[in-house]
Amino acid sequence: MCGIVGYIGQKQAAPILLDGLAKLEYRGYDSAGIATLNDGKIDVAKAKGRLAVLSELTDEGKNVPGTVGIGHTRWATHGEPSDINSHPHVSMDGRFSVVHNGIIENYISLKEKLISKGFEFKSETDTEVIAHLFEYYYNGDIIDAMIKVINRVEGSYAIGVLCADYPDQFVAVRKASPMIIGLGEGENFIASDVTAILNHTRNIYYLEDNEIVILKSDGVKVYNTDKEEVEKEVFTVNWDVSAAEKGGYEHFMMKEIEEQPKALRDTISPRIKDGRIVLDDISLTAADIKAIKKIFIVACGSAYHVGVVGKYAIEKMCRIPVEVQVASEFRYCDPIVGKNDLVIVISQSGETADTLAALKEAKSKGARILSIVNVVGSAIANASDDVIYTWAGPEIAVATTKAYSTQLAVMYLISLYMADKLGMVTSGQYKKLIEQIEALPDQVAEIIKQKDKVQYLASLFFNSQSIFFIGRNLDYAVSLEGSLKLKEISYIHSEAYAAGELKHGTISLIESGTLVVALATGRELFDKTVSNVKEVKARGAVVIGLTTESQTYMSEVADHVITVPDTDEMLLPSLSVVPLQLFGYYVASLKGCDIDKPRNLAKSVTVE
Ligand code: F6R
Repeated sequence: MCGIVGYIGQKQAAPILLDGLAKLEYRGYDSAGIATLNDGKIDVAKAKGRLAVLSELTDEGKNVPGTVGIGHTRWATHGEPSDINSHPHVSMDGRFSVVHNGIIENYISLKEKLISKGFEFKSETDTEVIAHLFEYYYNGDIIDAMIKVINRVEGSYAIGVLCADYPDQFVAVRKASPMIIGLGEGENFIASDVTAILNHTRNIYYLEDNEIVILKSDGVKVYNTDKEEVEKEVFTVNWDVSAAEKGGYEHFMMKEIEEQPKALRDTISPRIKDGRIVLDDISLTAADIKAIKKIFIVACGSAYHVGVVGKYAIEKMCRIPVEVQVASEFRYCDPIVGKNDLVIVISQSGETADTLAALKEAKSKGARILSIVNVVGSAIANASDDVIYTWAGPEIAVATTKAYSTQLAVMYLISLYMADKLGMVTSGQYKKLIEQIEALPDQVAEIIKQKDKVQYLASLFFNSQSIFFIGRNLDYAVSLEGSLKLKEISYIHSEAYAAGELKHGTISLIESGTLVVALATGRELFDKTVSNVKEVKARGAVVIGLTTESQTYMSEVADHVITVPDTDEMLLPSLSVVPLQLFGYYVASLKGCDIDKPRNLAKSVTVE
């Protein structure tokens, strides 16, 4: 959601801003705009629609002069997508121009106050109050004005501000919304994430809440809200520029599906040394683990689906009760969570508003927070007691694939690590599981090689109206993800059901030709799921059975069969999800959908 880029240097700012915004398109947006400072005057260009519209309007930025500027892609929250509601917003006196990502929760009362002081509003956005507040509080010192503004606004924000009185600098701040500072040679940047500036620099600052940044072409200074300068550590991003580019693929989603073996290896290998799991990243001791009464897993969307796998894995291996909840519910159900509880928070972006709020709720009640996050230095990582990073690299496609897979891998590592500390696994079981975890990247690569078969199946069913995914236990957890992958990018209605639950109502939706994807990888419940396959077939369903290579009986009941290699039952979700990712991708591709940027969706959901 909303992307921000800012530039100051020797080059013309506008083309650099447009290029940076293009790298942030994946976050989701419906309008875009830029503002530059030139000869003490602010120029603004903004337009509803794709960046191409803004690019055409500005002749690829060439007709917007100035070597300092800010840019924005807007995902509408307050007010419809329109030219007027697009950012940047400008103060009434034209001195300030503002881009903002986040929500100003008290904007109505601020707006009323400003209107009573004679300010006129042009847009319906919450952001416009920030531009007017700058004018209201400005006394000739931009940092003083910034401090007053952030003292007045409530909510989340990443803000970039141009001030016509300061032609050689611009100012930025963030709180609970993402923004990093890029440190170049004779040029400096702000951006919602590093992908926007990787072409220019890999050296960045991560910001704490309410640190105020003054960017000039020859340097960056960071201040706290007492106006004292803060020393920042430079962090060097090790991502390759190509990691954030399509590299010949038609879609990021397919590139990221194919990157899964590497992403898994990068996430698993550094954490297994001499056959033992080493979680240097976390401070959880054996005594801490023994003291845990209950574990909560809290996340949204696909990350929540990882949590559903996590519940099965941890309960089975550690015999600690686990409750898995979607973050948007957790925070409002007055959760009974406290000092002896561990809350595992999962998030690719590390900035999902609901997940962050749930984390804060749990923390305020005394729980210990362990997060699994992909984006280094993100808000969720910063707010956690311990973080285990998934080393998936940048994930650009809105539909997650490699982040999901690496989250699963971390979940297995945590489960086994804790089980070992609790004395719940024998050394033989431990050794075997480690070997099987280490084999996952190659097994995933093998499955990807069979993508033609999945593409063929997609060609048979891409005209379906409705598709059901069923499974039991871990297979149910993966059904949830398979169903979401399909519906979010292909817009085909789909539901995931615990296989045994279907006959308690939903089976009435099965009619002749309805596709049911039946997951039956788990050995223990294979026969039970096969019975459910027979039930739906008896009502006219066509069934794709997804099972392991050794469970050959599936071919006698299902119309089509996809197999994955055998491994320990706990690890099977890592394998069975891959054909489902491919299935969703190919169905969407055959339907001609915008796979990387599905309608209405944003990559990082920074609003509730
Ligand atoms: C689905 C998908 C979303 C995210 C969810 C959480 O493909 O990507 O369901 O999993 O929005 O996002 P993060 O992991 O960034 O917190």
